[in-house]
Amino acid sequence: MATQDELKRMAAEKAVELVPENEYIGIGTGSTVNFFIEALGKSGKKIKGAVSTSKESSALMAKYEIPEVALGDVISLAVYVDGADEVNHMLQMIKGGGGALLNEKIVASASEKFICIADESKYVSRLGKFPLPVEVVPHARSLVSRKLLAMGAQPELRVGFTTFNGNQILDLHNFYIDRPVSMEDEINRITGVVENGIFGHKAADVLILATAGGVKVLKPGQEAV
Ligand code: 5RP
Repeated sequence: MATQDELKRMAAEKAVELVPENEYIGIGTGSTVNFFIEALGKSGKKIKGAVSTSKESSALMAKYEIPEVALGDVISLAVYVDGADEVNHMLQMIKGGGGALLNEKIVASASEKFICIADESKYVSRLGKFPLPVEVVPHARSLVSRKLLAMGAQPELRVGFTTFNGNQILDLHNFYIDRPVSMEDEINRITGVVENGIFGHKAADVLILATAGGVKVLKPGQEAV
């Protein structure tokens, strides 16, 4: 039986097939994306350049000689490839386990097509078992925490972690996400919240899900089983 890493690699390799040549693309962050960067680099496929969402992805892109471009230097990106912490059948996601949710949402929003790559453990019927990351301005943390508690969540500070943008992360436990789009907005309306990890507005357009039975390429609304 395939290990989780083998499944991640399978999803990543399939995504390389969907990357168009001679275009700019966006690249997310995380262990599944690391397999994608490696596979893209080894494929010999020529892209104009890629916008990265983290130092870790940039370093790996450099290793595989994938040219990096700044978001400000491109008009739009043909595709954005990224992993997820959880994804449902509408291809809405929780992201930000690696703390790069703000950059990921920005780069995803600049992309014409979001390709999510995941192993089957990430596929859920309801989002929220994975603690939802919320990026907050540090001095607003207590204020924001009280408001999130009032919404029924249990916020926990990600100790010793600072985001790329100098902010902190609160991970929300026991917070089930029945209405991804409106709950994404409700959390972002709290003053002091910079962004949260619900990708409801910017759901994926395609999910490449690696399962024990093979790799599935799914559209929003299409069930995996
Ligand atoms: C990082 C993310 C990642 O996409 C998410 O955490 C999945 O990571 P992995 O591929 O390592 O399981 O949102 O902020």
